[in-house]
Amino acid sequence: MIFTVAIDGPAAAGKGTIARAVASRFGFAHLDTGLLYRAVGAKGGDPVQAAQSLTEADLARDDLRTLAAGQAASKVAAIPEVRAALADFQRRFARREGGAVLDGRDICTVICPEAEVKLYVTASAETRAHRRWLEVGGDEAQVLAEVRERDARDMARRDAPLRAAEDALVLDTTALSVEAAVARALAVVEARLGRPGG
Ligand code: C5P
Repeated sequence: MIFTVAIDGPAAAGKGTIARAVASRFGFAHLDTGLLYRAVGAKGGDPVQAAQSLTEADLARDDLRTLAAGQAASKVAAIPEVRAALADFQRRFARREGGAVLDGRDICTVICPEAEVKLYVTASAETRAHRRWLEVGGDEAQVLAEVRERDARDMARRDAPLRAAEDALVLDTTALSVEAAVARALAVVEARLGRPGG
């Protein structure tokens, strides 16, 4: 069975949590595509070469989740040749046998416009910054500034800017608990798939 769940949205909106829950419920493979850009940013040197030669070991680094790695990722993500180098891998992953969930910024719009389920997961910048701050600590105002800076860069870039695909279901998690947001996403996938998970 080929079945793709594509999830886009800004930083810290809850995409990853929802993607992992969908993958686990329906037995799909999950790809956090942000990790690809984070790994390219962290590698240093020429970002295009880094993207073209990315390996499993690059993705296994333990310093990819930091705020600095997120900023570096969003800088290299604006380079069209970097995006092109990562596109094939993501498309193959999406159409693998057994079902796949991919979360990122351009999955519904560019990588998998043919996905069976398309979600745009979002929340207010303040809510997202607060959630990220609970994870990483530090100064919450600084975290909010970084979230805003990254949003602005991701939405303004020429190549594959972050936006909701016209046919994506928008899931605003600002006033939703994690459980409620996950439940909605699971219900959408279940309806399209025609069977419950588990
Ligand atoms: O989702 P995450 O915060 O890990 O993404 C890090 C950065 O990678 C984003 O801010 C964005 O610039 C870039 N990205 C992207 N396209 C994707 C996934 C991530 O441009 N599909």
